Amino acid sequence: MSLSKWFPICLVLLAFTLGAAQAAGMLSASSRAAAKTKTELCPEMAAKSTYEMWSTRYDNKTKVCYKTGTKGPCGNNMIFYAVSDDPVYGECDCNYEICRSMIYSREYDECFEAFQQGHCPASEWLVADKNGQPVCERNLCLPPPKYSSKYQWALYKGRCERLYKPIHDCKPDEYLWVPKGHRYPVCGKAECTNPHTFVPELQCELGSRLYDQGRCIRRKGI
Ligand SMILES: *[C@@H]1O[C@H](CO)[C@@H](O)[C@H](O)[C@H]1NC(C)=O
Repeated sequence: MSLSKWFPICLVLLAFTLGAAQAAGMLSASSRAAAKTKTELCPEMAAKSTYEMWSTRYDNKTKVCYKTGTKGPCGNNMIFYAVSDDPVYGECDCNYEICRSMIYSREYDECFEAFQQGHCPASEWLVADKNGQPVCERNLCLPPPKYSSKYQWALYKGRCERLYKPIHDCKPDEYLWVPKGHRYPVCGKAECTNPHTFVPELQCELGSRLYDQGRCIRRKGI
């Protein structure tokens, strides 16, 4: 039987388990305290289901509660996340559901695909540096007409190549793209299904806002 047939059943079971746990007063003291804090911060939460309460977090910046995994108060290509191991607070970061490498722009408070200009000067592009931090670097695939600005360019093995276009290094049905977690393009296909969990949490993804704020430990081998 396919997974899709089981999915609704799993959802019902999950809802039932949560409901039963609440009815039996089995929710831990800490999650009850978190629910109380959330209800104080956002009085409208009192009327919401346990699931909504569980998946919602408070945003200090806008002073509003938002469901995690939605755009909420966030900029382009960003979604609202739960702060790791924090049942109350949430924050925006690049949408990790997008399988392409996304880089945070502090200036625009939004995320761009790696090697796009973003907020950088016209002679530069926005990439993740070797510490994972968003940075403007000199765009080496300039100027037109050699590197037409109609296309997206990136550095591949030290040379300028067009993204999303098959090149001889790749298999016939593949092309260059920059997957999440990579600094440079690889051969492959950009399509992927990468659904977030019920309560997506902030994570140290290359080029993320978390990295920009210096809240990530430098990753080895990137
Ligand atoms: C939001 O503000 C509260 C109270 O000042 C603080 O304890 C909490 O760490 C803040 N959370 C975030 C994610 O900024």
